[in-house]
Amino acid sequence: MLDSPPPPDGAPRRKLYIETVGCQMNVLDTELVVARLHHEGYELTDRIEDADTILFNTCSVRQHAEDKIYSALGRLKRIKQRRPEVQIGVLGCMAQKDQTLILRRAPHVDLVVGPGQIARVPELLAQARAERSPQLAVSLARNAGSRSTVTQSFESYDPDREPSLRPSPFQAFVRVMMGCDKFCTFCIVPTVRGPEQSRPPEQILLEARQLIDQGVLEITLLGQTVNSYKSRDAGGRLWRLSDLLAALHDLNGLARLKFITNYPTDMTDDLLQAVRDLPRVSRYLHVPAQHGDDDILRRMKRNYSVAYYEEMLQRIRQTIPGASVSSDFIVGFCGETEDQFERSVALVERARFKNSFIFKYSSRPGTKADSLFADDVPEPVKRRRNNDLLSVQTRISHELNRALIGQTVEVLVEGPSQRAGKGISLDSSPILQLTGRTTCDRIVVFSGHQRLVGRLVSVRIQQATPVTLFGEILTIHSQPSSDRRRLPALPVVES
Ligand code: SAH
Ligand code: F3S
Repeated sequence: MLDSPPPPDGAPRRKLYIETVGCQMNVLDTELVVARLHHEGYELTDRIEDADTILFNTCSVRQHAEDKIYSALGRLKRIKQRRPEVQIGVLGCMAQKDQTLILRRAPHVDLVVGPGQIARVPELLAQARAERSPQLAVSLARNAGSRSTVTQSFESYDPDREPSLRPSPFQAFVRVMMGCDKFCTFCIVPTVRGPEQSRPPEQILLEARQLIDQGVLEITLLGQTVNSYKSRDAGGRLWRLSDLLAALHDLNGLARLKFITNYPTDMTDDLLQAVRDLPRVSRYLHVPAQHGDDDILRRMKRNYSVAYYEEMLQRIRQTIPGASVSSDFIVGFCGETEDQFERSVALVERARFKNSFIFKYSSRPGTKADSLFADDVPEPVKRRRNNDLLSVQTRISHELNRALIGQTVEVLVEGPSQRAGKGISLDSSPILQLTGRTTCDRIVVFSGHQRLVGRLVSVRIQQATPVTLFGEILTIHSQPSSDRRRLPALPVVES
């Protein structure tokens, strides 16, 4: 982390502890909050007992994530009794969903801030101190009167970021849109993150340029349904995600470009062709299917059938040979019979996803499914179905990985592998177990010099587990970060 400026009023630096749960959007929001607080003279600590400001950036997609935060808050009650000056804040989706309920269940909380008001955290902390009362900020800053998904602007604070909180110094997230308009019946996200709004392309390109100038080599574009991205530039031209990828691809110094998460019915041919034709774009598509049964998909309000989903998969595989696809599945959705569950198993068997994230259905107050259907699959059945589906997926992931043994893949080196062990110091032992990813998002572990971190290398695969490939380095490619000429002007895109 950069040295923080001294606090404006000459007071001692405040120490911030922040914990993040949930998706990559939250990881990015935390980066933004910390950057803002850093400007105010706060410094980060990873010891909660040393902190005088304790923040939780929360998730409400499943009940379990919320329970963990409430019990963490419960444990902080004593700290607050002993040291009343300690400030405790709940940020993000659970703050938006539960609002004053948080203050009722945990009256020692000073701050409840929804995702739309994250940029105001420093101001709200100061206000809570001055007024000695809890602050609640949960406006979603909707574009009043507009139902269009093509929005010109919303306040952007994304360029103000804290590099030390990125996945690594050369990997960064860039938000291309906020919110979601799909309203799948099981999902709380549209309620807590608000309507879909795409950021103007100029803002995104500017932010990407700044990140590349700071040494970022890999950018992952984030959106709840990232492939629904649509925005007009200042000249009035309409940009789709494919246009954005093409423009970002031309930025010198960028080695890899990814985007998550895709919605099946927005997987248009122009996007697939962009992934095929732009070599720096990862050949990896995360497109959640959620279920393998048409009746359940209808009750989930996913707006597609299993046949449609499989045709889309076929289009992906015809257009982008070798692309990997991953999915999300929910097991134990309201009324799910054994036969219906078996249809999810059959879809996983046929689709041969690189991997799937599998979740037990968790009823979310405020969603359509919660009010319309009974959460009637017993917990042990949900657990068994989760394990069964996971074991099928794990076997397929292993088969796909084993098929790569003997092949050479290009890997962007991310850093020392966790398997390298904690005792190894970067300075004293330059040859490490390194880890990185292929363009298809497969994890590769191999031995190499620490200097290779942030470089593209060719690795021959020798062994495979369901989640990891192991190999040896063959070639080291030229360093993308040294290739930083003047950045091109904004390209012209046809509407
Ligand atoms: N489009 C979003 C989805 C957010 S939620 C994205 O960026 O990934 C992530 C996943 O959680 C969903 O794809 C779904 O599989 C799962 N999920 C959402 N609501 C859920 C619920 N109520 N119970 C169980 N799993 C859920
Ligand atoms: Fe949730 Fe469906 Fe949107 S899963 S984030 S409502 S696409």
